[in-house]
Amino acid sequence: LNVLSVASEMYPLIKTGGLGDVVGSLPGALLSYGIKTHTLLPGYPSVMKGLTERRIVKRFENVLGHAVTLWEGLARGRSLFVADVPALYDRPGNPYGSPTGQDWPDNGIRYAVLARVGAFIAQGCLEHWRPAVVQTHDWQGALVAAYLHYDGVEAPPVSHVIHNLAFQGIFPRENLETYGLPPRAFALEGLEYHGQISFLKAGLLFAKSLTAVSPTYAEEIQTAEYGMGFDGLLRTRSAALSGILNGLDLKEWDPLTDPAVTFPYAVGDIVGRRANKRVFQAEFGLPQKADTFLLGLVSRLTTQKGVDILAEIVPRLFEWNVQLAIVGIGDQEIMRSFAELQSRYPHQLACHLNYSEILGHKLHSAVDASLIPSRFEPCGLTQLHALRYGSVPIAARVGGLSDTIVDANSAAIAEGVANGILFAPTNRETLMGAVRRAYVLFQQKSVWARLQRNGALHDVSWEGKAADYAKLFRELAGCSESYKT
Ligand code: ADP
Ligand code: GLC
Repeated sequence: LNVLSVASEMYPLIKTGGLGDVVGSLPGALLSYGIKTHTLLPGYPSVMKGLTERRIVKRFENVLGHAVTLWEGLARGRSLFVADVPALYDRPGNPYGSPTGQDWPDNGIRYAVLARVGAFIAQGCLEHWRPAVVQTHDWQGALVAAYLHYDGVEAPPVSHVIHNLAFQGIFPRENLETYGLPPRAFALEGLEYHGQISFLKAGLLFAKSLTAVSPTYAEEIQTAEYGMGFDGLLRTRSAALSGILNGLDLKEWDPLTDPAVTFPYAVGDIVGRRANKRVFQAEFGLPQKADTFLLGLVSRLTTQKGVDILAEIVPRLFEWNVQLAIVGIGDQEIMRSFAELQSRYPHQLACHLNYSEILGHKLHSAVDASLIPSRFEPCGLTQLHALRYGSVPIAARVGGLSDTIVDANSAAIAEGVANGILFAPTNRETLMGAVRRAYVLFQQKSVWARLQRNGALHDVSWEGKAADYAKLFRELAGCSESYKT
């Protein structure tokens, strides 16, 4: 069964967060269920460069005012289509903004063109390849469902993935025509959103099925607290909405073969990983002390991740025998506050305020515990990295974090099932309390070792989750319908 996946990023070619990881690793997991995915990406410089065995499969003279060359090719075994439009995608920086962090002003047309090309492929513009299902990711892919809906011609069903409801793809209503959408699309039962248009809403409204990236997030987004304004719409679509957890590519995340791990160790070998802490402390310029409780954080530095709250409690945390290592990049203000804290506490805080795939792996192989104090977290991949690499996650009880972490309360410890620490709600006091609880457990060597081992045993693979996607796609393909309006 052929699936067209439409996305704005894909590991290993281009990635800003978990979206890229998932888009890059799910297709491989689906293969064993007979699902063959082609991923459609924009032709960013790194994508054009990384595309191998490529050939042109179509030239569109005019897609929303742009000539598009459609390439097909491979990226480390993954099948790709690439919409090559240099005027839109051949730019430095990350996919969404300039190297100085400003969103590109024309992001609307950039992802409208991507989705329009996706819709053409869905409608069968390629003779050699047709999808039975289209999977779209976040707001950048979401317009596919709108084009198919308003075109009203035969097309396969769309399954939209909600990775993060906070990003809604909001643009002025005047742009509707530029995006090739009819005036009637500006309606309550269309893309209208508080006087503007939302790309995300197109996916939420018109996709045949909706999947959130964890069961808890699928529930949360139907409430006013986490719905980001779309909870009402999502409640009306609850029959089409399910939650499927993300998994990891276990070959990328294996501490025995991971080139980022200084002293390789087998999953669950908590003695074998100890040497990594020592070299990591040295590498990060921290005193090499085995007994010091070493905390780590790999994250986008934004308010979603609760890292501003972490910065606020750092002085209190450092009254204990604690070190903290950070690999992160994001909001300027948050980065500044960590940089200032680092100069105040050079022996306890070490920050790498940048993006580093290698350090992101290495950190979890070395630290005692990984912090994830998110205000909301659709799924979260870093807790899965931590569990797999033997670092105990200390996380907020939200979204996918609560689906993957079993809190070390006394009952769970007695039962031998705990694998981390959870706290709620997300604020300074609860975060302090959680780290304090972890700090106490860390001194109880055998309890701590059990948490680490349980984490390593936790199934973080794609196995069951890819099976759920495969089942969903088969059901959808079976009821392929025309989008007649
Ligand atoms: P989100 O997608 O919301 O950022 P996830 O936990 O799902 O959160 O995924 C984040 C991904 O990005 C993980 O693979 C994480 O290791 C990676 N990551 C985040 N920030 C950095 C960074 N500064 N350097 C390296 N990897 C990072
Ligand atoms: C989003 C979410 C994150 C999730 C990732 C991949 O970026 O913030 O929680 O893990 O998408 O689905």
